[in-house]
Formats: sequence, structure tokens, C-alpha cells
Amino acid sequence: MRNETTAKNGILNAPFLHEMMDTTYNMWRFGWDERNGGNISYLLKEEEVAAYLNINHAIRSITLDFPVKELAGKYFIVTGSGKYFKNVKDDPADCLGVIRVNEAGTAIDILWGFENGGKPTSELPAHFMSHISRLQVDKDHRIIMHNHATNIIAMTFTHELDEKSFTKTLWQMCTECVVVFPDGIALLPWMVPGTDTIGEQTAKKMKEHRLVVWPHHGIFGAGTSMDETFGLIETAEKAAQIYMLISSHQGGVKQVITDQQLSDLAKAFGVTPLEGVLAVEE
Ligand code: 13P
Ligand code: ZN
Repeated sequence: MRNETTAKNGILNAPFLHEMMDTTYNMWRFGWDERNGGNISYLLKEEEVAAYLNINHAIRSITLDFPVKELAGKYFIVTGSGKYFKNVKDDPADCLGVIRVNEAGTAIDILWGFENGGKPTSELPAHFMSHISRLQVDKDHRIIMHNHATNIIAMTFTHELDEKSFTKTLWQMCTECVVVFPDGIALLPWMVPGTDTIGEQTAKKMKEHRLVVWPHHGIFGAGTSMDETFGLIETAEKAAQIYMLISSHQGGVKQVITDQQLSDLAKAFGVTPLEGVLAVEE
């Protein structure tokens, strides 16, 4: 009987698994996830997981060296450390895992995936701590996404690393930007990735911003759905691409979207731009 249920509702039919497979592949196609670059974690509801997996059976457990009591009992599907995004859709059971944080918040139980001894992304501290931050400010929050978006990285070499001016430059590059990320872009100093420290710093920024840039490395995005989070990073990356295109243009920049126009745009779309970026009279 169990086998029949498992076959009918096998996890390979789970919509959340397909979202992970499609998104990782799209991110690779965009050139944002060379080799094993990038990682995604997706907060799942217990009933979503229970429809496809026996949630009472943990394959193995992994101890966390950073406690996440706030996430106790929560389920995630996560990309595996060292896994290539280009390969996820062909071998999801090797490249992805469904995990649950234990009641003490000190370990994760692997319920499915990470076959061949795999484990979650090395950026799990940044993911988990960012989930905690975002859930405090957005009850619908579900996704943390990291990648090596090419033009965002390029821009961190040529643009000053000041959050407000970086945000303003990106808002000026496409009319939609201030509407898509009115909360602006946060920036960290360069740090060693995969550490608890970069995780803590990223999460701190995530309390007020859904995009956090790691200079010379990549970007973290947060959102309520896979499409929204992908779209957020896609929009920032598109703006960065335009910045890189026009910065090297011999004729230089001849006109810009003014601060007043950006402010008018925000008003028209009912968003509040991050304070202190636009120089306009209220
Ligand atoms: P993982 O393969 O461990 O997810 O690491 C990739 C990465 O982008 C590190 O910042
Ligand atoms: Zn990375």
C-alpha cells in the first residue's frame, strides 16, 4: 500500500522539486552559476512535504555549528554543496535535499536527496540566518537565493561600494528598478564565504533589504516565491549590465533618469524608496 502511495505521489512529481530544477537550470543558463556557484533554499510547508515524503523517516542527520532555534521543525529543499546547477534537473536526488531542522535547532534531518553522501550548501549559515531575518519582517517569506550574477560582480570592481550610491546607480539604469527593489541594495565588505560571520552579516542586512551584494563574489536575494526572488535578482543584474555597458561607452552618458522622475515613479507605483537615496524635496 505504501509503495503505491509513494509511486503515485512520488517526490519527482512535487511542484517544489520542479521549481528547484527549473530555477537552477535557468540560473545556469544566464551564466550566473558557473561550476557549483550559487545555492537556493526554499521554505516548505509540512503538508507540502508530507504529500510526497514520509516525514517520520530521516535518512541521516547533520549537526549545525550555529544554532537556529527560530527554525525548529521547519522544512526546506536546499541545493547541495559542490553541486553544479547545470546538472540539477538531470539528477535532483544527488544535487538537492529535503531537510527539517530538529526541535532544538541544533541539527538537520535529511528526509530525501543528498544521495551519495552529499550535504547542504556551504552557505547554509547565510541562508538559515537570512530566513530568520526575513520571517521576522515578512510572514510570507520563503526563498533565499544566492548566485554569481556576472554584471553585479563586475560592478563591485568599478563602482564605489557605498549602499546608497550603489542603489541609486541601479535605480537609474532601468525605469522598473525602483519599483522592483524600493528597499535598495545592501553591501557587505569582502569576506570569506561559507562562514557563520558572513551569514550573520548577511542576515542583519536582510532585516531591511531583500538584496545583499557580496563584493567580488555575488548576490543574495530573498522573496516569497521562486519567481519573485529570481525576478528580483534578474532585475538588479539587468540594471548592472546596463551600467557596465554604458560605463565603457566612448561617448559617455548623455542623459539620466532624474531623482525627481524616480520619486514620481515610486509615488505612481505606491512604493517607498529607501530613505536618503534620492535628492528631492518632499
Ligand atoms: P556551495 O556549492 O557549497 O553551495 O557553494 C557555492 C557558492 O556559491 C559559495 O558561495
Ligand atoms: Zn557563491
